[in-house]
Amino acid sequence: MPVLAETGEGPGKAGGMGPREVSFRRLRSSDLDLLHRWLNAPHVLRWWYDEGTSYREIEERYLPRIEGRETVKPFAILHQDNPIGYIQSYPISDGGDEQYAALVDVEASAGVDLFIGDPRYVHRGLGQYIVRAFLSEHVFSNPGVEVCAIGPEPKNKAAIRAYEKAGFRFFKTVQIPGKPETEYLMTLTRKEFEGHFD
Ligand SMILES: CC(C)(COP(=O)(O)OP(=O)(O)OC[C@H]1O[C@@H](n2cnc3c(N)ncnc32)[C@H](O)[C@@H]1OP(=O)(O)O)[C@@H](O)C(=O)NCCC(=O)NCCS
Repeated sequence: MPVLAETGEGPGKAGGMGPREVSFRRLRSSDLDLLHRWLNAPHVLRWWYDEGTSYREIEERYLPRIEGRETVKPFAILHQDNPIGYIQSYPISDGGDEQYAALVDVEASAGVDLFIGDPRYVHRGLGQYIVRAFLSEHVFSNPGVEVCAIGPEPKNKAAIRAYEKAGFRFFKTVQIPGKPETEYLMTLTRKEFEGHFD
């Protein structure tokens, strides 16, 4: 039985959508089936399309992260201990992709990307809590990180709004060479994070 099997239960009427139900754990190779399913779901594929959709492509992309051979750290997003999505963090200015670091051009910065893979949990207000819990536990917990950056596509209005609700603000638009769309780069400093109350 896969370690990370989706349960048949959705959020439920009584199931809360608040921050207390959200947690994270490192992604495992046994999660790749679920990741494959999520990355082929239309609501994810619309915005997360450049890493391939076949199982083999996904394995090639995510196994090095799972095995710690890349600076990208992959996590499963859990809601009441059930996997509902994927989130990753990576250094930008210090040991990350040099080309991306030059584009962002912010000292002591780290990046985050995520998607809610289970469609039952999308557009229910959970994204802001996922982001804030992750920043607290896995980004600003690193004393070397002063700024977090996140780069949705300009057309991804739902993501931009969810990140604004988590405290991010527009910083600049960047064009990563070879990518079909620009990034609407948003940033949040440690100080802003600590002073942000909903
Ligand atoms: C982006 C994402 C993390 C946002 O989290 P979320 O919990 O779904 O976000 P919210 O429910 O807070 O909705 C954010 C905004 O989307 C808009 N929205 C709400 N319902 C929507 C719907 N059915 N369709 C499109 N947009 C909708 C609203 O403007 C909402 O803001 P508001 O509540 O202040 O009005 C999540 O939707 C997701 O993972 N989407 C799929 C993949 C993706 O886009 N990943 C991000 C790549 S950068």
